[in-house]
Amino acid sequence: MKKLLYQFDTDQQPSVFDNVVGFDGGADHISAYGGVNAANVGPLVEGAIFTRSPKDKKNTAVFIGGANMREGEAVLAAVQAKFFAKFRVSVMFDCNGSNTTAAAAVAWLAHGRTLAGKRAVILAGSGPVGQRAAVLLAREGASVAVTGRKRAVLETACDALKSRFGIEVQAIEAPTNVERGAAAAGAHILLAAGAAGITLLDAKQWQENPSLELIADANASPPAGIDGVGLMDRGASSHGKILFGALGFGALKLALHRACIARLFEQNDLLLDTDEIYRIAKGMVGN
Ligand SMILES: NC(=O)c1ccc[n+]([C@@H]2O[C@H](COP(=O)([O-])OP(=O)(O)OC[C@H]3O[C@@H](n4cnc5c(N)ncnc54)[C@H](OP(=O)(O)O)[C@@H]3O)[C@@H](O)[C@H]2O)c1
Repeated sequence: MKKLLYQFDTDQQPSVFDNVVGFDGGADHISAYGGVNAANVGPLVEGAIFTRSPKDKKNTAVFIGGANMREGEAVLAAVQAKFFAKFRVSVMFDCNGSNTTAAAAVAWLAHGRTLAGKRAVILAGSGPVGQRAAVLLAREGASVAVTGRKRAVLETACDALKSRFGIEVQAIEAPTNVERGAAAAGAHILLAAGAAGITLLDAKQWQENPSLELIADANASPPAGIDGVGLMDRGASSHGKILFGALGFGALKLALHRACIARLFEQNDLLLDTDEIYRIAKGMVGN
């Protein structure tokens, strides 16, 4: 029986990255749909749940991606609303790599140490990766703040996190490097989750910040999101801080993404979202 993955992407063009990792994770065939939304996903789900016998349904799975978290979450809810009794398949939610990237970054930050009681600041934290990293840092016991260029955008993101995950995240409007440096004052953990190729902080701003202990940069496209953090850094030491670069923790992100795809095909009722994906990441980090 072939392992079939249905890739539902809220963007018009389904992600090639998610497609490749789907195959590398063990899918035999992937059908990738773009422009998927909560209103049009129903018939696609019916095709997935009504076609195979109960014991064979684990060979069909759904992956939800796309750049817009809110639309992705609405698609996830619509997919789950179609399931009943044994008529269901396993689902992975990873809009823009949000869960797998945040899980890999935070798993490394928390590896061999506790983050409880620490203050974490996520630069440009209103995007998919930043939002999920906020959840995971809060789950680890850190108090979390996110910066962004516009307060209204940040508050919308923080409200969504509160209603979906029950966590309090502080919003700090900080549109310039100087203001982002000021937002990092007193922080122990700094994570840059800005758009690709945007530098959010100058090197001196973290090097001369006495409270910072751990720094991670998710941006893999030059220039760095945090100047002076090496792309390949994985626990490197500099100016008394421990550094993680985008490719340094990106190896875990990729391995995690593949491992999650493989798990989808082990049962027909798995939901891989933020907390489940983080649990898997914690089991893989450092191996
Ligand atoms: N290392 C890995 O394995 C891996 C995997 C996947 C993704 N990534 C990277 O992770 C990062 C975060 O991904 P994402 O999808 O969450 O990012 P995103 O949605 O593209 O951007 C995140 C935030 O960046 C801010 N931003 C955009 N343009 C900006 C500018 N010119 N100046 C300052 N801030 C700006 C925006 O916040 P405001 O509008 O609120 O300011 C936006 O919400 C990206 O760099 C992505 O390439 C890394």
